[in-house]
Amino acid sequence: APTRYEAENATCDGTIDSNHAGFSGTGFCNATNAVGGFAQWTVTAASAGTATIGIRYANGSTANRPADISVNGAVVQAASAFNPTGAWTTWVTKTLTAPVNAGSNTIRVAGTTANGPANLDFVDFEVGAPPATNEY
Ligand code: GCU
Repeated sequence: APTRYEAENATCDGTIDSNHAGFSGTGFCNATNAVGGFAQWTVTAASAGTATIGIRYANGSTANRPADISVNGAVVQAASAFNPTGAWTTWVTKTLTAPVNAGSNTIRVAGTTANGPANLDFVDFEVGAPPATNEY
C-alpha cells in the first residue's frame, strides 16, 4: 500500500487551509498564486525503483492550473495538467510514475502560470508494484 504524505506536513509556499471540505488530514496547501508557487514533499523509498505517485488536488477555478512535477529537482512532468475539478471541494488524484532513489526523495509541484498550482492535499507514494497474485 502507498504511504500518504499530507500537504500540511510538507513545505507549502502559501498557506495551509481547511476551508474547502473533502481534504485528507487537517488541511491542504493553498500555494501562492504565481508562477513557481509550490508544495514540496519529502518521501522515503525503501529501495530505488519506479515509484507510483498520486497527487490529490482540487481546482475550483475555471482555468487550467498546469504545474511542473519534479523529483529530486528534475522535472519529470512539465506543465502537467491540473484541470478544473468543478469545485474547490471536489478533490481528485492524478497518478504518475517516476524513478526514485533509495531513502529520501523530494516531490515538488510548482505552478507554471500566474494562477499558481491547484490546491494540493497529499502525495501517495509507493515504490514498485504489488506482486502478481499468481505464483507458480
Ligand atoms: C480561492 C479559493 C482558494 C484557492 C484560490 C485560488 O480563493 O478559496 O482555496 O486557492 O481561490 O485561486 O488559488
